[in-house]
Amino acid sequence: MLRQLNHGIGLLVAILKSVIIVVVLRIASCLPFLKERVQKFEEQHLLVPYQNFWDEYGGMKMFTAVSKILISDHERTARLGGCAPNCKNDFSEVVRDFEEVADFLIVYICEAHPTDEWRWNNNVEIQQHRTIQERLDAAEMLKKKSKCSAPVVVDTMANETNSAYGAWPERFFIIQEGKLVYVGGTGPYNYSLPEVRSWLKNYVNNPENN
Ligand SMILES: *[C@@H]1O[C@H](CO)[C@@H](O)[C@H](O)[C@H]1NC(C)=O
Ligand SMILES: *[C@@H]1O[C@H](CO)[C@@H](O)[C@H](O)[C@H]1NC(C)=O
Repeated sequence: MLRQLNHGIGLLVAILKSVIIVVVLRIASCLPFLKERVQKFEEQHLLVPYQNFWDEYGGMKMFTAVSKILISDHERTARLGGCAPNCKNDFSEVVRDFEEVADFLIVYICEAHPTDEWRWNNNVEIQQHRTIQERLDAAEMLKKKSKCSAPVVVDTMANETNSAYGAWPERFFIIQEGKLVYVGGTGPYNYSLPEVRSWLKNYVNNPENN
């Protein structure tokens, strides 16, 4: 009951905030001495010239979009310190969806947060591998936990794959006939599974490849 009430209040606050934001921006955009500043501010954030969005500025559609942003932030289940929700968009799902057109391979390189380096609380207990057997054991653990059908191989103890691909701590590549056709950004901040999915989708939809 209390949770529902809290949730309802949160929703109301999100909507009210959206109303205030859009109304304030609308008014500011009509005042000659503020108009230019609003345009500049938006151009800086949207990275497009104001002519591209100005007609729709401060209107109902903008309100809908802004309230969607604030509501989705309120409704998210991903909370700091909480368990990471399992998204539909995980790697094993991409593997499942495209296994007919691509061979997937996980190369386990090093441990990102081993017990003897920058360790995290509640993480798996793995020390940085000193022998190939330790690396294989850790990869085995990954294979079991991930429930992904893609085969897992390990890097050499000289970290050759990691060095050649700059893969640390995680990264996606797509290789076609021995050539790299997609090099993703460095994880976890600039690492995009949707990009991989969309590359594969384009590949499948291209009639030349069928
Ligand atoms: C391989 O990488 C691991 C993890 O970063 C490191 O501990 C190890 O010293 C590296 N091995 C070599 C030969 O550089
Ligand atoms: C992020 O990754 C993309 C490739 O997916 C790359 O072009 C871009 O330069 C990277 N950005 C940063 C800040 O590393």
